[in-house]
Amino acid sequence: MSFIRWDDRYLTHISKFDEQHQHLFKLINELHNGVLACSTLEEEKEITKRTLAELVTYAQEHFGAEEDLMQTYSYPQFGEHQNEHEQFCLRVSELVHDYITNPAGLSLDVFLFLRDWITKHVTETDIHYVSFFKEQGVE
Ligand SMILES: [Fe+2]
Ligand SMILES: [Fe+2]
Repeated sequence: MSFIRWDDRYLTHISKFDEQHQHLFKLINELHNGVLACSTLEEEKEITKRTLAELVTYAQEHFGAEEDLMQTYSYPQFGEHQNEHEQFCLRVSELVHDYITNPAGLSLDVFLFLRDWITKHVTETDIHYVSFFKEQGVE
């Protein structure tokens, strides 16, 4: 059972970004399933730290790829878009910090935050660059 399920409504039809979004969904599911499958706190700590770090690194790579393309084509909403990426990174850094300070288990709030943020950002913010990039000939 997936915690966050991919759906065609998340497609931007820009192949690189669709692949990256799908990978982000996969990492959120891995974190969720990994935590559920743990039998000891030590195991949970290790999986949580490793998967969260992987998620942060990959999210930054993805945001960087979107921002590079936006800058290449002087995307008009670059500033607002980049700001949303930064807010996400800040919030996740806080969550990682909280977890390292008190590794008593990731709360459901963390998973809900990740799921809500990514689905909302893709459908309400990323979606705005689609027609712009398509007009520039980006596939
Ligand atoms: Fe984005
Ligand atoms: Fe994105």
